[in-house]
Amino acid sequence: MISRYSDQTKKIKEEEIEEAAREIKNGNLVLFPTETVYGIGANALDAEAVKKIFIAKGRAQDNPLIVHISNIQMLEDIVANIGVLEHKLIEKFWPGPLTVIFQRKSKEVIPNVVTANLDTVGIRMPSNLIAKELIEKSGVPIAAPSANVSGKPSGTKVEDIISELDGKVAYILDGGLTDIGLESTVIKVENNKIDILRPGKITKEQLEQVVEEVEIDKHVLEKVEQNEVVSSPGMKYRHYAPNTKCMMIYSKVEEEMIDKINEVTNQMKQENKKVLVIGKQERLDSYIADEKWNMGKTLEEVAKNIFTLLRKVDKEQVDLVILEGVGEKGLGLAITNRLIRACAYNYIVV
Ligand code: TXA
Ligand code: MG
Repeated sequence: MISRYSDQTKKIKEEEIEEAAREIKNGNLVLFPTETVYGIGANALDAEAVKKIFIAKGRAQDNPLIVHISNIQMLEDIVANIGVLEHKLIEKFWPGPLTVIFQRKSKEVIPNVVTANLDTVGIRMPSNLIAKELIEKSGVPIAAPSANVSGKPSGTKVEDIISELDGKVAYILDGGLTDIGLESTVIKVENNKIDILRPGKITKEQLEQVVEEVEIDKHVLEKVEQNEVVSSPGMKYRHYAPNTKCMMIYSKVEEEMIDKINEVTNQMKQENKKVLVIGKQERLDSYIADEKWNMGKTLEEVAKNIFTLLRKVDKEQVDLVILEGVGEKGLGLAITNRLIRACAYNYIVV
C-alpha cells in the first residue's frame, strides 16, 4: 500500500502513518522518508523483523544499521552512557542529519543483527516530520538503512526505488523528494575528538564549532585495500556505482577542469565513443561532449540531484560518464565521497 504526501509540511494523514506504524509493530518493513534519504525501516528491538531488511537489500551481514529515535528516552534506553561532548552534539544537531556512534547498553536491548555484533550502535534522530511521527506512533526505535538495493545509489524519491523494492516492504510512505539528498554524517566521539566516518550535510566546519579536533577518517576519500581494518563496515562496500564507466575530474582552477574534461572527451570521440558530462549548470556550455546533464547550481542542489542522476546514467547509451568534481569544502566533502565511489575510485585531480 502506498500513501503519498506531495509536501511533508502539509497536514500528514494520521491514519496512514498509523497503518505504517502498525506494520512496524507487527514485525514488517516500511519504506519512509527522512530529511536525508529514504529508509527501509523495521522495529530495532525485533531481530526477526530486522533480518528482513538484510534480505530486502541484499545487504552484507557485517554492515550495521542506524537506529532512528524520536526522543532522548529512547537513546538512554539503548546506550551505555552519553558523554559531555555527545550531549553538546545532540543539543546542536538533533533532530537532524547526524548519526552518532555510541557504546550500546546490552545485547538484550538492541539485538546483534542490528549492530552486526559490534558493541557500538549508530543512532540518529531524524527531523523529517513523517519519520518522526512514524517512530512516535510505532513506540519503538526504528532500524533503517538507506532505501536501495545494496550497491545502488540511495533513494531520494519513491519513483527511483519503487521497481527495486516493490513487494519487499509492507507499506510505503511517500514524502516526495527528500530535503538533503545525501545520507547523514556518521561520527564517532573519542576523548575530546570527533572522527568523521561518513561525511554528510553536517560538515566538518560545523562540527569544529563544537570541538576543536575533528578528523576525517582516511577511508572517506581513500579506497579500502584488501584486509585493511576499517572504522565503519560500510566503507568496504561498493556503493553508488552505475554499470556505465564513470570518471570524476576536478581542478580548483575552473579552466583547467574544463580543459581536462574536454581533452578526455576528445580522446573518446576519436575512438568513436560517446561521453556524457554531468556538471554544474554554468559550465555546461563549455563542454564539447554530445550529452550534457546539469547537476545543479549550488552544492545543496548537487547533493539533492546526484543520486537520481547516477541512477539514470545506465539508461543512456554512453561509453563514459564524466562527473565534475566539487572540491572538499563544506558539503563538497560529502558529495566528493559519493562521487569517487560512483566512479569506483577512477578520478583525476588536476
Ligand atoms: O541518512 C542516513 O543515515 C540514512 C537514513 C535512512 O537515515 N541511513 C543510511 O543507512 O544511510 P545505511 O545503512 O545506508 O548507512 C549506515 C552507515 C553504514 O556505512 C554503516 O557501516 C555505518 O553507517 N554504521 C552503522 N552503525 C555503525 C557502527 N556501530 N559503527 C560504525 N559504523 C556504523
Ligand atoms: Mg546505504
